[in-house]
Amino acid sequence: MNREDFPMLNEDIVFFDNGATTLKPKIVVDKMVEYLQNYTSNIHRGDYDAAIKTNKAYDGVRKIISEFVNCREDEVIFTSGSTMSLNMVVFGYMKKHLKKGDEVIITKAEHASNVLPWLKISKELGITVKYAELDENMELTIDNLEKAITEKTKVISIAQVTNVIGDVRDVKAIGKLCQERGILFNVDGAQSVPHMKVDFTESNMDFLSFSGHKMCGPTGVGVLIVKRELMDEMEPLCYGGGMNQTFEADGTYELKVGPSKFEAGTPPIAEVIGLGEAVKYLQGIGMDNIHAHEIKLKKLLVSELKKIPNIILYNTNSNSGILAFNIDGVFAQDSSVYLNNYNIYVRAGNHCAKILKDEMKIKNTVRVSMYLYNNEEDVLKLVDALKRSEDIFRVVI
Ligand code: ALA
Repeated sequence: MNREDFPMLNEDIVFFDNGATTLKPKIVVDKMVEYLQNYTSNIHRGDYDAAIKTNKAYDGVRKIISEFVNCREDEVIFTSGSTMSLNMVVFGYMKKHLKKGDEVIITKAEHASNVLPWLKISKELGITVKYAELDENMELTIDNLEKAITEKTKVISIAQVTNVIGDVRDVKAIGKLCQERGILFNVDGAQSVPHMKVDFTESNMDFLSFSGHKMCGPTGVGVLIVKRELMDEMEPLCYGGGMNQTFEADGTYELKVGPSKFEAGTPPIAEVIGLGEAVKYLQGIGMDNIHAHEIKLKKLLVSELKKIPNIILYNTNSNSGILAFNIDGVFAQDSSVYLNNYNIYVRAGNHCAKILKDEMKIKNTVRVSMYLYNNEEDVLKLVDALKRSEDIFRVVI
């Protein structure tokens, strides 16, 4: 759908690397260029016309985001991306609130950004990072999550959709569980927010992170949503202009209250404005429509690939547009280079989920990740290239 909106699709390419980043519609690029060319100015510092226009454009995106994921406007913090958002949760909030002996539950399918910050503070604070067991499909069940919870569990920190297997976690049920047991709920929304309707408030999330570039927006901007009553207890990782109320030579200082406290220095203004446009664009299409479209394409891809004997599929059932596979006996990166010959762009490797590869007992996979502009023709081009791979790789391996 909407392929004509994406200039990069004028080239004869099949872009199936949307888990890594997405293409940008012209409307998003134009919106950023408009700011850069016509009213460039800093925010919250100027009293002239262009600066007032910039303030309005930048702050207006908070409202757009709040409506998109159903949270309060003053719960929206702009960051540089999901990685920074997740680090802010761990080092800005958790480090201050967790103590020796506390347990944090994650899973072995998490992305590095939801593992490494925890490993770092676990050493510093003496907290335990526990891995809720995954089932044979590398998915998290509510049963297994419940089994991992003890009276010491203080946080559940999981991706809503995992980036290799595309496991869609039932965040509504998990949020309810957290509410009942007094556990903080930290959600990595990098692979979910771009693809489906996400409801921060209804799912009782305490923290939600996502990136602009994985949802038709620019790189360099992301979002951290923090439940308002927790925000005042969170410390900024960065100090400077724009986040303080006052500071004196005697060493006293007072910080701002709310999202500004976490947005020190000049923020990525053009990128925030671009992200706002991207969200409006996605809303125009409808998140339910995007999700349904991806699922339809994935089903077609799975049913076609099942007919090819040398293709090994790893996650045929997960309810997202992500499919991990290998060509039997072929190194994943070689498969990716092979597909590049057909102008088909996929990602190969361990996809920054370095513990999952041990759990799956496979070092690397090829990952197809779909988005709204992929179509059946894209799927059939990939299927066709993989059908031919049998003959080609038989000669090589
Ligand atoms: N986290 C991104 C991915 O899964 C880069 O590809």
